Amino acid sequence: MHYTKMIEINDIRKSFGQLEVLKGITMNVERGEIVSIVGPSGAGKTTLLQIIGTLDRPDSGSVVIDGTDVSTLGDKRLSAFRGQNIGFIFQFHQLLPEFTATENIMMPALIAGRSRKEARQKADELLSFMGLSDRATHKPAQLSGGEKQRIAVARALVNNPAVVLADEPSGSLDSKNKQELHQLFFDLREKLGQTFVIVTHDEELASITDRTIHLRDGMIEI
Ligand SMILES: Nc1ncnc2c1ncn2[C@@H]1O[C@H](COP(=O)(O)OP(=O)(O)OP(=O)(O)O)[C@@H](O)[C@H]1O
Ligand SMILES: [Mg+2]
Repeated sequence: MHYTKMIEINDIRKSFGQLEVLKGITMNVERGEIVSIVGPSGAGKTTLLQIIGTLDRPDSGSVVIDGTDVSTLGDKRLSAFRGQNIGFIFQFHQLLPEFTATENIMMPALIAGRSRKEARQKADELLSFMGLSDRATHKPAQLSGGEKQRIAVARALVNNPAVVLADEPSGSLDSKNKQELHQLFFDLREKLGQTFVIVTHDEELASITDRTIHLRDGMIEI
């Protein structure tokens, strides 16, 4: 069954101790949409993305990803769900230094229980799509910043996730690599229909996304 809504967030609230960080967030993301989330430091962007990504649970409110209400899943099923359905891209690639580009990309597939053969095949496909086949056996220290970030994108995609969530993905890149990475997101949407939610301080990126959500002080600004 195909849902038009890929992400449905309803009245999410989250506090850390006395600090109320999210004060009732309601938002939807359509299948194949590229949505950016912007706002000042401390507005709650990362907290919201972590909750959408099921890495953290809200105090109240619901999160439905591709038709699954994730609050109904226990920790074990939730982590399996996350591995299969959600890809993450961080500001700093967070590749494992002792593994090659291919092995880093394969990792989430192996964790999800796929065979080495299947994982490698998918990693090779993604490397080729990224134009990085000739870097397959390089370790992160032997890759440029832009290459590392593209490998991180490939790793996020290896399980064909419903959603890719990115937190400041181009925050550590120079302008050329930044533009290439942004273009890659749109290429992936065109080729795979991939859905993205991207937290960014980059106004240029925000301006080219389908929709921008402005977060301030734990609330969506209208
Ligand atoms: N695990 C935590 N425990 C306590 N406070 C937290 C925790 N995580 C975040 N906070 C606080 O919640 C607020 C929102 O943090 P969050 O990381 O979501 O902001 P952000 O919008 O991503 O900011 P930035 O643009 O600087 O990354 C901040 O005041 C932060 O200190
Ligand atoms: Mg943040």
